[in-house]
Amino acid sequence: MSPASSGAVAIILAAGKGTRMKSDRPKVLFDLLGKPMVVRVLQQLEAAGVNEMIVVVGHGADDVKTAINGLPWSARIQFVHQDQQLGTGHAVAQAQSLLKPDDSRPLLITCGDMPLVPANRYRDLLASTSVSSPLTVVTVAMNNPTGYGRLIINDHKQLERIVEEKDASEAERAVQWINTGIYATQWATLQPYLTQLSTNNAQGEFYLTDVVGLMHRDKLTVSVNTWPDEHEVLGINDRKHLSQATQWLSLNTIDQLSTNGVTVLNPASQLIAPEVHMAADTVVMPGCVMVGDVRIGSGCQIGPYSTLTGNITVGNNCRVTYSVLDKLVSVADHTAIGPFAHCRDNAQIGQHVKVGNFVEMKETRFGDYANAAHLCYLGDVDVGDYVNMGAGSIIANYDPIRDSKTRSTLGNHVKVGCNSVIVSPVVIEEGACVAAGSVITERVNAWDLAIARCRQSNVQQWVKKILDGVKA
Ligand code: UD1
Ligand code: MG
Repeated sequence: MSPASSGAVAIILAAGKGTRMKSDRPKVLFDLLGKPMVVRVLQQLEAAGVNEMIVVVGHGADDVKTAINGLPWSARIQFVHQDQQLGTGHAVAQAQSLLKPDDSRPLLITCGDMPLVPANRYRDLLASTSVSSPLTVVTVAMNNPTGYGRLIINDHKQLERIVEEKDASEAERAVQWINTGIYATQWATLQPYLTQLSTNNAQGEFYLTDVVGLMHRDKLTVSVNTWPDEHEVLGINDRKHLSQATQWLSLNTIDQLSTNGVTVLNPASQLIAPEVHMAADTVVMPGCVMVGDVRIGSGCQIGPYSTLTGNITVGNNCRVTYSVLDKLVSVADHTAIGPFAHCRDNAQIGQHVKVGNFVEMKETRFGDYANAAHLCYLGDVDVGDYVNMGAGSIIANYDPIRDSKTRSTLGNHVKVGCNSVIVSPVVIEEGACVAAGSVITERVNAWDLAIARCRQSNVQQWVKKILDGVKA
């Protein structure tokens, strides 16, 4: 933690409904590559060294609190309620129940709908903000500033006020310096100005932005901190913004992966979350979605068209082709998954394994050098090393009458013939062989052959007789 940010506090505005989303769900809970956007904001603040956060909640407050409280935090997180959403100034004022009037710690204010700001920007802002400045407003020059508040800077290069889009004249709307909605200040300085805000504006709200004009009136110099990248400060107000933010975050992640020696082909076709780690010399073919705690080793080929979501570990020199790995999956080195495999919900797959076409696997440990090359279902089973599952073999693990599942065990070197059904719970000991087409309901001892199907009987010349009868 940097000295500037230790002892820093942040207020995060997250009470608004997000009307432009056209949804009952609070805007700040919309998912951005696997995490609610407000969670991304808090995580970046925490990484910047902010050790106390006050989240202003209102619309959907319980859901917002549940989403945040469900995660581990090292920072202290508290909530204040804004019962009516009367504007950003009113929202910040709610923090007064938690902050003493003379609180002079560095204070960051940011919005729960701005999840793309990286931690280092917050860290630098805290480090560069001098205590003598009553308020620092973060700005960027935006190519298309529509929708944002504009910074009105006078001939003396002083920030005089911020005007909201809806209150701005045509000339003011032409200004490209926008208010990001990120500020650095101290509560002791800011709080007296919050009580002076009015609703005399186009939206009838208490605008936090009006504090700037009030301070200027009092001859206080409001600082401006210019950030370089307009994408980082995108405020997500509608679905188009959400889609843009998702794409940008993914492309940014791909950029970093590429710098670290990973080839990601056709970046626009991929969705890769910033939490995804890949070692050098791995290649990602087009059309992949990777979201969550995903770790991939070196020398792998992932894709085309594969989805890795949740807690996923893939070792070195693996292939995942046209397949889905979901929730909790680990794959050891030199293993090939797919095409068209679905591994999910605690599938632990060994090294030098082949999980092939149309194979589904869940709650399964699948040993080293084992094969399930075609058309298998493996559920709730421990499979040893060097096992071969023939095409179409199934573990029948589900009892639909009792709605319960049971486990089976297949020892090392077991060979299961094609189209066999292993009815759980059952144990097939080491080296045993199950004949094709068997239905196995009882234990099979080591190195035995189990045949559980009708014996074949041939009716001699049966076809010939039929054909002769037809001709006669
Ligand atoms: C705000 C700024 C604008 C800036 C933009 C940056 C004001 C008046 N305007 O506009 O200058 O360019 O952000 O994205 O500050 N919220 C509350 N309670 C409220 C109102 C809003 O908690 O009563 C929260 C919202 O949940 C949201 C944030 O404050 O997280 C910003 O509100 P929003 O309505 O998105 O403001 P903008 O119109 O984007
Ligand atoms: Mg906004």
